[in-house]
Amino acid sequence: MRGFLIELARTGGRIAREYFRSHRVRATSKGRSDYVSHVDRMIEDAIIARIHNHYPDHAVVGEERDEDAPARDLQGPCWIIDPIDGTTNFIRGIAHFAISIAFCDSAAEPRIGVVYDPMSDELFIAERGAGLWLGNDRVATSGCARLADALVALAVPFRQLEPLDDALVVLEDLQPACDDVRRSGSAALDLAYVAVGRLDAYFELGIHCWDTAAGELLVRCGGGQATGLDGASGELLARRSILAAATPELHRELGALTGPLASWVGRDPFLPAL
Ligand code: IPD
Ligand code: CA
Repeated sequence: MRGFLIELARTGGRIAREYFRSHRVRATSKGRSDYVSHVDRMIEDAIIARIHNHYPDHAVVGEERDEDAPARDLQGPCWIIDPIDGTTNFIRGIAHFAISIAFCDSAAEPRIGVVYDPMSDELFIAERGAGLWLGNDRVATSGCARLADALVALAVPFRQLEPLDDALVVLEDLQPACDDVRRSGSAALDLAYVAVGRLDAYFELGIHCWDTAAGELLVRCGGGQATGLDGASGELLARRSILAAATPELHRELGALTGPLASWVGRDPFLPAL
């Protein structure tokens, strides 16, 4: 099954590379600061067609088609797909985006996750109980246990602006307390980088399951911890926030500091999704 996920991710990557910076990308807006291109849809369609060829009974939740597969009715194994995570980067010619695919068990818990960066040709893959690889190499988180030493990725809320004041309070506390912060534009790559030790932690309010399903598994298989901002680890499909860290100690310390953002979890406009 790992080989099949790798093949799916590389299929998506080939399409993304073909169109990247080609001036043939048609993008439309789905809402404030939320875009989809025809390449997102092409990749998602190609991946889903292959899954349904091999596994006609499996349900698929995809970023661009979730309305076709209401997650609350999911039964049996399912797939969670983000065809391009980092669409804004992609359509603006910034080479930092990824294909993210998670294969989940009947409880909608990821069993295998792959995040593929087609521009650097880096493939991050994890299987529950088996481990984490970057390409052919076994890898792990940085092991960073202190916020003072941590390089932390984050996103300030940008689609729903209600929590902006709280986000700025968190940022004001965080910047002097950590090594430094980053905002990359791809949640899937932020999680993959935490998993392999390039970053030490990442948090965001406002994500969806397709942004994080594969990446959360990567972090856990790399020895880190990934939950919602409120510390809850279940309900992946419904989750609207993420807090991932290289170690439980760092997760705890960052969790205390991000409290003002956690207070938005489960509240309008961040009600459980799907
Ligand atoms: C987005 C990216 C971004 C994150 C957003 C996501 P998309 O995914 O992962 O880094 O801040 O919350 O929605 O829209 O590019 O697939
Ligand atoms: Ca996404």
